[in-house]
Amino acid sequence: MALANWRDEYSVNILEIDNQHKKLFAYINEIHDAMKTNRAKEELGTIISKLAAYTVDHFKTEEKYFERYHYPDTANHKYEHQVFVDKVHGFQEDFKKGKLLLSLEIINFLRDWLINHIKGTDKKYSAFLNEKGIR
Ligand code: FEO
Repeated sequence: MALANWRDEYSVNILEIDNQHKKLFAYINEIHDAMKTNRAKEELGTIISKLAAYTVDHFKTEEKYFERYHYPDTANHKYEHQVFVDKVHGFQEDFKKGKLLLSLEIINFLRDWLINHIKGTDKKYSAFLNEKGIR
């Protein structure tokens, strides 16, 4: 069974964003699989870089809608994004320098952060953006 499993309850009712969230789950599972099967450090590094880049792209998608429609919780939401981006970049740098061995603890952190952020913070914009015609 995959480490990060998508559930319908995670849906924010916007297809583009649900698909991006699913892709983030897929990257986390890919990192987990690579770790379990002891794949080469370079390969693991590449997947971590893809996750980091895709996370930034995903956050930009949400923030584009926030700015376009003047979403009231923009500042707080963007702050959460920035903290996570900094954390992932920190992991990435430490991993590259050999200071960090990727552990289940870190992968669990990424998965739990994502699930909690989607269920707590992302879901708050669903009704607001749906009302603006974003689905
Ligand atoms: Fe889907 Fe706010 O990240």
